[in-house]
Amino acid sequence: LKTLPKEKGWAFDEAYLYQGFWIRAQILQQIILCQHQFQARHTDVLLATQPKSGTTWLKALAFAIAHRKRYALPTHALLTNNPQKLVPFIEVNQETHQQDLADRLSSLPPFSPRVLSTHLPYASLPESVTSITNDCRIVYLCRNPKDTLVSTWHFMSKIKSSEAAYEEPLSLEEAHELFCRGASPYGPFWEHMLGYWKASLERPEKVLFLRYEEMKKDIKSQVKRLAEHIGCPFTIEEENEGVVDDIIKLCSFENLKNLEVNKSEKMLVVDCKYFFRKGIVGDWVNYLTPQMAEQLDQVTKEKLQDHGFPILFKE
Ligand code: A3P
Repeated sequence: LKTLPKEKGWAFDEAYLYQGFWIRAQILQQIILCQHQFQARHTDVLLATQPKSGTTWLKALAFAIAHRKRYALPTHALLTNNPQKLVPFIEVNQETHQQDLADRLSSLPPFSPRVLSTHLPYASLPESVTSITNDCRIVYLCRNPKDTLVSTWHFMSKIKSSEAAYEEPLSLEEAHELFCRGASPYGPFWEHMLGYWKASLERPEKVLFLRYEEMKKDIKSQVKRLAEHIGCPFTIEEENEGVVDDIIKLCSFENLKNLEVNKSEKMLVVDCKYFFRKGIVGDWVNYLTPQMAEQLDQVTKEKLQDHGFPILFKE
């Protein structure tokens, strides 16, 4: 650890630059263990995101799609379990401080596919996940950096206010400055996103690249892409019977936010209700000054221009 560069963390501890990405000191050891121990199965579905890019939404959708034959309304698992619990992170345990990966994953439902998630960058994924001999699927969800920043800042302030022992949360100005320098949780934002985007071009059968803004614009076509990629395409009959629409409704912001389980449960230091704030595109205009937005746009342009990435996230 002593050899790794350090930064002020966003919430309650320092962050280290590990394999090119900023990782909270508290979870670094768990991440290294996961990199060595996690064994992907051929049927696994791994959802990858940066924090606050819509992970919870993607978890709910992928779980509902993959297990639609096992759970039906009105007793669907998502009505009584929060999505974080149904789709655990491979690298951190959100429920207890217990760190044994095998024990943790053994509590998953016994049927396949296992739907799992990660915030790890592509290059830091456990070898069994990216190996060409493993058929597991990866889905990456990306969100525009300005909304990601604002959402992360809100979320971290909430963690702070529920845990009085932690040091002062960052001001938005400080958070913006760190974000632009790449020191966001699991950042730099752009390198994280480009790693998965390039993998999705090189190995489209393995990695699907989704965007939060496109999901908000046309959820039905994105849900169908997701279902196909994870090997669970909808049949014409299912579409006609309204199965796709039911899943979209079940996983909608309004529905998930208002479920009792998502209002009242807590995972370690986080109240689950904080995973649902506004759920819209472009809320950054209410928080970032024009100068802050411009600075972030400029960094985005510089970071992405040589990579052929088609969107500059100006909106
Ligand atoms: P906002 O803070 O902008 O509202 P994550 O799940 O990666 O932690 O991301 C949280 C962000 O996704 C929050 O954004 C949250 O409101 C939004 N979100 C959560 N559930 C959602 C859903 N079902 N549909 C759309 N957005 C959702």
